Amino acid sequence: MDARIQHRRIDKFFSGPGARADDWRDLVEAARAWSDGTADRSWFEALLSELAITEEYHAYPGSHLLAALKEKAGSGDAAGTLALATRITNALQTRSFRQHGGDWSLHEEGEAGLPDLLPPSFGQADTRRPYFETLIVTGVPATSWPGVSAEWRKLRRPIDPFIYEPVLVGSFEDAFCATILNHNLAAVVINEGFSYRSRHDAPVLRTLTASMGPQEVSDVSALRLAHVLKRVRPELDLYLMSNRDVEEMAGNPQADVVRRIFYSVEEILELHLAILEGVQERYETPFFDNLKKYAQRPIGTFHALPIARGKSVFKSDWIRDMGEFYGPNLFLAESSATTGGLDSLLEPTGNIKKAQEKAARAFGADHVFFVTNGTSTSNKMAVQALLAPGDIVIVDRNCHKSHHYGMVLSGAQPLYVEAFPMTEYSMYGAVPLRTIKQALLNLKAENRLNRVKMVDLTNCTFDGHIYNVRRVMEECLAIKPYLIFLWDEAWFGFARFSPFLRPRTAMGAANDIEDWMNDPKSVAVYERQRAELGASPTDDILLKTRLIPDPRKIRLRVYQTNSTHKSMSSLRQGSMLFVKDVDFHTVEAQFHEAVFTHASTSPNQQLIAGLDVARRQMELEGYGLVANAMEIAFAIRQAVNTNPLISKYFRALGADKMVPAQYRESGFVDYLEPGVNWVTALRSLKEDEFCLDPTRMTLVCGTAGFDGTQFKGILASRYGIQLNKTSRNSVLLQSNINNTRSDVAHLVRVLAEIAGEIDRGLKQGGDNTRKAFEARVKSLMTDVPDLPNFSHFHDAFRGDAGTRTNEGDIRSGFYAAYDAEGCEYIRLADPEIDRRLKNGPELVSANFVIPYPPGFPIMVPGQVITQETIDFMRKLDVKEIHGYDAVEGLKLVRPEALARKGGRQPAATPKLKAARA
Ligand SMILES: Cc1ncc(COP(=O)(O)O)c(C=O)c1O
Repeated sequence: MDARIQHRRIDKFFSGPGARADDWRDLVEAARAWSDGTADRSWFEALLSELAITEEYHAYPGSHLLAALKEKAGSGDAAGTLALATRITNALQTRSFRQHGGDWSLHEEGEAGLPDLLPPSFGQADTRRPYFETLIVTGVPATSWPGVSAEWRKLRRPIDPFIYEPVLVGSFEDAFCATILNHNLAAVVINEGFSYRSRHDAPVLRTLTASMGPQEVSDVSALRLAHVLKRVRPELDLYLMSNRDVEEMAGNPQADVVRRIFYSVEEILELHLAILEGVQERYETPFFDNLKKYAQRPIGTFHALPIARGKSVFKSDWIRDMGEFYGPNLFLAESSATTGGLDSLLEPTGNIKKAQEKAARAFGADHVFFVTNGTSTSNKMAVQALLAPGDIVIVDRNCHKSHHYGMVLSGAQPLYVEAFPMTEYSMYGAVPLRTIKQALLNLKAENRLNRVKMVDLTNCTFDGHIYNVRRVMEECLAIKPYLIFLWDEAWFGFARFSPFLRPRTAMGAANDIEDWMNDPKSVAVYERQRAELGASPTDDILLKTRLIPDPRKIRLRVYQTNSTHKSMSSLRQGSMLFVKDVDFHTVEAQFHEAVFTHASTSPNQQLIAGLDVARRQMELEGYGLVANAMEIAFAIRQAVNTNPLISKYFRALGADKMVPAQYRESGFVDYLEPGVNWVTALRSLKEDEFCLDPTRMTLVCGTAGFDGTQFKGILASRYGIQLNKTSRNSVLLQSNINNTRSDVAHLVRVLAEIAGEIDRGLKQGGDNTRKAFEARVKSLMTDVPDLPNFSHFHDAFRGDAGTRTNEGDIRSGFYAAYDAEGCEYIRLADPEIDRRLKNGPELVSANFVIPYPPGFPIMVPGQVITQETIDFMRKLDVKEIHGYDAVEGLKLVRPEALARKGGRQPAATPKLKAARA
């Protein structure tokens, strides 16, 4: 093989659409080099034969155009080769082949094509028809494939709502690889009689197939393949073609992953129609479809909402520009009606209900609630519906404020657990499982396990820490079999559509646990561990052991919220609350109350439609879009960390920097570490306590002399680059399904420009400039304040609390602030603060104090303020601190008011004091 091929990243870990495009661009470059005499033909040919292996998994350019390319090269026609390679590459890049029949022809437009090889009826329909590909796994020899494809194409009718091309493969391995690599697939037809091994023995395939479990190799039945493919891409419709015992197969519960089973000798038109119907089912957006119809109807409105139909806008001289800006459809689709197919979000019975059912299926849940006030509201709804006053919740203190407020509303008592600190970047990671288990064991020791109802965690965190969701739930359930889990996946909704990330989502893990519970072998596994642990294992042993719950006893009760708008094509505030709870019937009424409490009685139609459409998109193209978002993130990481100029001042933190080694048990270092392949990365995703979401990139800017807020401002004002979160010395970059390679190029360009400016400034500025720069970097990177842990609630708010755990009645703390007489203000710089810290009485916060950044509450209502919190606040150099007024000072509950509330004095709880120490 040509040595230059080694440079191609054929084993690129998450090879997505971009990697394929790169391969084609490389091929064009090789053709160009051959054509202008700077390289010989062999380079081109070697690249082409390498590329041809994975191109078999795609319908376009297909065997006909690839053969032509090979032939042209073989005949020494360098110019013709370059022209054809360029044309194919352009068609792939612009995706024009999906609509344009000419792209499939050997000849340029206008020349006579080869009609039998062109997909018939391409471009014949009046409107643009969505295009997809159908994988056909078959046992017939490869020489017959062109004939089989031609048969499939003959089934097309101009009235078909979609158009698809068949892609044929002949083995288990090829079917697996095609499912991974071809993002255009929407359906798979599995005929019996295929082989296991691929025809090719290429390294690129081996890296893919190595990620299949060993059990896959032993069973090559069509049903086994269906299970493997469903696990990789659950959104695909699978069809099984069998020529024996179809009735028996259909009755097999294992066949539930298959949409339909056909007897192979029957009419394939039925199969064709079934494929179209399957895609149509995902394509349908019940609410949005009806909203569009509604907007077309002539309707006189005699209800509120004058903006509906837009007449008040378009007739006005003064606000007409708004109408022109948004276009008439927005106003035609505005309505406060809940009839005429529009349904009621508060009590859906029609199209919203149907849309929600589709979303539940797409995300692997039993039920879903559409929410139009963001995940801030979804979280409050879940907390309110699932918890009653006095219930204890184990919750990450660093979670989004909606959880804290949810507990204020519900009267539940937060038992705060701390995430591991990342002090040098002024941020928190995620909560170690050991800490959560310890909290449960502490409650157990005091016979108070019955009080804890929920574990409430953020997955992934703002900065990208992903929990081992399955492990957390299993180990917690091993200590208490009845627990509810609320996973705030505000940022992580897209993860459902990545086979790598899905098992680490709440719904993905819940489905895996459910499968495990249904597996008869699980009981034996549990019993073995129980025997090993003995009758009364110590806490120490329980903390060290990877605990297995009793599959017969546990109740699987999992909730997940996601901000659909944060990672999918939904309008801002679109959010979903997913339910997978065997006991949902016992809380369903409470959920309705929560909906009534929080949902507006005038929910926005466009937001509901946006949720419906976001679901459709993710089910039909989410797999490719998410792969692209991940690829973009890798490209940014790679560019920043390897560019000599940029990496002098900036760094994108890898998994090794974001997740301490003790939580990367598999030994995984980072996605971009040399030698990382699918196997090592998958092992990490399976085993490690925490992983890093590759799409969330912490870019350290303190080393360039910028604090996070300052750098965010520069990027926004000078370069039009927007980002969200900052820390003292970093900013968070995020890739999503919207990003393109051009965005990467722009970002890299900008970073290079800024790095260049710093470099020049330092070179020209002399000693003083350099010293000032170094001092600034030191102050940002090393003089970082310690992050303050949650101290404890004042005893006035710990009425019935135990002695080993820190839960408290946050609601009473919150309402203490309503008693103006019972509160006082002391300014941060006032020596009175220091005096009280030293001699008492204790300083007790009357409200939440949340500085941005870092964005977590350094004080919650009723919390005793400690020296470390004050030190942290005094060192903070951020301007935005919610709940703190610099002029008035800290709002505190007066000692007299605390005394009136009663509660034990600290001296009365020596154990707690010891625990706090
Ligand atoms: C972890 C987390 N949960 C919930 C939310 C709130 O989501 P929304 O903006 O959709 O209300 C956020 C917002 O940033 C968040 O970071």
